[in-house]
Amino acid sequence: MLKDTTAVVTGASSGIGAAVAQALAAEGADVALLARRRDRLSELADIINARDGGRARPYETDVTDAHAVRDAISAAADDGDGIDILINNAGSGTWGPAVTADLDDWHTTVEVNLNGVLNTTHAALPHLTRAAAVGERGVADLVTISSIAGRKVPGALSNVYAATKHAVGAFTEALRQELADQHVRAGLVEPGLVVTELTTSGHDHAPDATNPTGYGLLQPMDIASAVVFMVTRPRHVALNEMLVRPTEQTI
Ligand SMILES: NC(=O)c1ccc[n+]([C@@H]2O[C@H](COP(=O)([O-])OP(=O)(O)OC[C@H]3O[C@@H](n4cnc5c(N)ncnc54)[C@H](OP(=O)(O)O)[C@@H]3O)[C@@H](O)[C@H]2O)c1
Repeated sequence: MLKDTTAVVTGASSGIGAAVAQALAAEGADVALLARRRDRLSELADIINARDGGRARPYETDVTDAHAVRDAISAAADDGDGIDILINNAGSGTWGPAVTADLDDWHTTVEVNLNGVLNTTHAALPHLTRAAAVGERGVADLVTISSIAGRKVPGALSNVYAATKHAVGAFTEALRQELADQHVRAGLVEPGLVVTELTTSGHDHAPDATNPTGYGLLQPMDIASAVVFMVTRPRHVALNEMLVRPTEQTI
């Protein structure tokens, strides 16, 4: 369904981003893979390019570096004949009591989760509006991976992480209102607990996905399926927000 489209996926080197890139390519989209770990991006590009579907290219990029992001998005647009879909997925986090927090950790979380989204969105918007205006699909898609922590504060220790996810939610809603008549669909996907490096690397106070019980937690491909569903709706349908929890998650 996404043949002849180009999608940019940030944070494609692991977890949800890697799954989203594979799922979009399986639908026929060419995918530009952005993240800092070049080796991981190249491995993923090889996997995608060995399969049927869209082609993948790695673009080593730190989303906190606005100039690097602009260069990568511009290169991806040149290589792919424009950009039809942007997936703002790159993210990191710090969790813990505010009174003992390292201020640099807070700033890093804001830099990646909020300013990273601003950097990629700002660079991609001219390409998305153009694709919506002249592309065969008649729409373009801007999807940001937020979190359940962008809908409500799941606990005191999620202070800055929740603040960044609420912020991208507000930003996305403003974009939705601005871009609706230009046929750029702005959407949020808000995962509950997903088994990824973020939740299994033992970060202090981070949501912990190392001991799933019962039905188990979400896997990255569960979120990728939601993203694919969102961007493959008919052009008169904008699915603006999807909250996806594990069946047994109560928070
Ligand atoms: N896992 C969950 O339970 C969960 C729940 C709700 C929301 N989310 C959100 O889902 C998104 C993906 O997270 P994940 O769970 O898949 O974690 P992950 O496996 O740790 O992936 C994070 C990705 O972000 C990239 N990234 C981090 N800092 C970056 C930077 N400065 N520049 C470019 N890329 C950067 C990482 O790539 P490099 O290190 O190679 O740069 C990596 O590809 C995040 O926005 C996260 O907040 C996750």
